[in-house]
Amino acid sequence: MIKILRADISDLELVKATRLESLRESPDTFTSSLEIEQEFTNEQWLERMARSQYFLALDGETPVGIACCIEQDEYPNNKRKLVSMWIDPNYRNQNLGSDLIDDAINWAKENDISEIELDVFEKNLGAKKLYEKKGFVMTRDNNTFEGYPGFYHTYVLKV
Ligand SMILES: CC(C)(COP(=O)(O)OP(=O)(O)OC[C@H]1O[C@@H](n2cnc3c(N)ncnc32)[C@H](O)[C@@H]1OP(=O)(O)O)[C@@H](O)C(=O)NCCC(=O)NCCS
Repeated sequence: MIKILRADISDLELVKATRLESLRESPDTFTSSLEIEQEFTNEQWLERMARSQYFLALDGETPVGIACCIEQDEYPNNKRKLVSMWIDPNYRNQNLGSDLIDDAINWAKENDISEIELDVFEKNLGAKKLYEKKGFVMTRDNNTFEGYPGFYHTYVLKV
């Protein structure tokens, strides 16, 4: 039985381990890397968690997926960015990614967040399909991230 945990700072080690595993397993889908984030100090993780709500999919005690809604300096109070979306390959295609997004949407409603934005690489067809299925709408096309190959799309969901 998989459950979704809204992580708090007591879950620091679980969040850290799951995020690092996602960067190791799916290096081409994120605009960060294992090399960068494995050097983060606990203070840096806690600073990130203070600006975020992390969602963990747990099979018993084992984390098998992660997502995060994070504040951005340029965003108004009622907007968050959905980042770090990842499901363990052994658990894909079982609606867990969809379940994480559903809980992020519920969390947003409970916290007066009315807009969720995300960026996804153009070539990441599976993730784009998932986001579109959940109601995200592409707002900007063909942007690039400095230092990363390929284009990405920005999607927005009105909660
Ligand atoms: C993208 C990802 C999170 C999807 O997780 P998941 O748990 O497998 O997704 P779900 O089972 O909830 O999929 C729900 C729907 O999304 C779509 N979808 C998800 N993955 C898909 C894929 N690889 N190809 C096509 N459609 C896909 C389908 O429409 C699916 O619904 P359906 O099965 O009824 O057709 C997962 O593949 C992953 O971790 N990928 C690597 C990391 C990554 O790309 N993260 C996103 C960074 S922006």
